[in-house]
Amino acid sequence: MQTINQLDSLRDNIRSLKAQGKSIALVPTMGALHAGHMELVRRARNEADAVVVSIFVNPKQFGAGEDLDAYPRPMEKDQAMLTQAGVDLLWAPGPETVYPAGFSTSIHMTGLSDDFCGAARPGHFDGVALVVAKLFNQVRPSYAFFGEKDFQQLAVIRRMALDLDFNLQIIGVPTMRDTDGLALSSRNAYLSAEQRSAAATLPAAIHAAAADIRAGSDVPAALSRARAAILAAGFSHIDYLALIDAANLQKCDHLPTGEARILVAAKIGTTRLIDNIPV
Ligand code: PAJ
Repeated sequence: MQTINQLDSLRDNIRSLKAQGKSIALVPTMGALHAGHMELVRRARNEADAVVVSIFVNPKQFGAGEDLDAYPRPMEKDQAMLTQAGVDLLWAPGPETVYPAGFSTSIHMTGLSDDFCGAARPGHFDGVALVVAKLFNQVRPSYAFFGEKDFQQLAVIRRMALDLDFNLQIIGVPTMRDTDGLALSSRNAYLSAEQRSAAATLPAAIHAAAADIRAGSDVPAALSRARAAILAAGFSHIDYLALIDAANLQKCDHLPTGEARILVAAKIGTTRLIDNIPV
């Protein structure tokens, strides 16, 4: 696997892959790779002839006081994992390459981005949309893979790609979990041993709520039982916990006719964890 830091070198490599008639899949990440990221890579390998993974901790999607500086950056370990997985190119630009002096363009998302993580983290999805649009332009992939773990992010990126006429297929991949059900996340590394064991209550609570709702339970009552369980386990704050219609991310008090999900974000200590499951 080749690691590339400069845009002209990336373009040369992409041109050469395309000249060989190879289809390209892109897996955008912020690094600190775990089995969830590697599942996206595996799916990308199955779908396309060449796989490009990007690692870039995007400053524009972090708010003031968030964990931009603390975000883990184990580059050598990540490179070893990607080499092992048969990735063709690692695109790992520095911030000055992605946002050179004088950078003046923004993307403002509305609608799907308004509630949930968008409300809790103002500007977050604008930053995500901007960097993903840039990555799509830089790599020009036929396929891009994103996790359902970040369900709202996946919906916002699908919308952005449609709105800005990107000609590629966006593929969502189900969430990979630890043996106790906790969704794998680079931020799980922030948890103490005690917090880590309490954190499994988050998926357990939404799983129980989904089962209750499927069995006909009143939606607000099922959600309030989940809320109580999460707080009792030691989470200090719930940003949101809602049943949504997966098609438009609108909150529902009754099961919608199409696909429904429960979305949750909650804080344990200083760490904010998110999760979601289909109902
Ligand atoms: P990051 O948090 O590194 O995640 C990269 C991709 O891995 C995202 O599509 C995310 O949904 C997926 N992912 C994370 N944990 C997962 C899990 N347990 N199972 C399946 N997929 C999982 O999301 C970002 O980076 C950034 O916002 C990015 C899209 C790269 C833009 O900067």
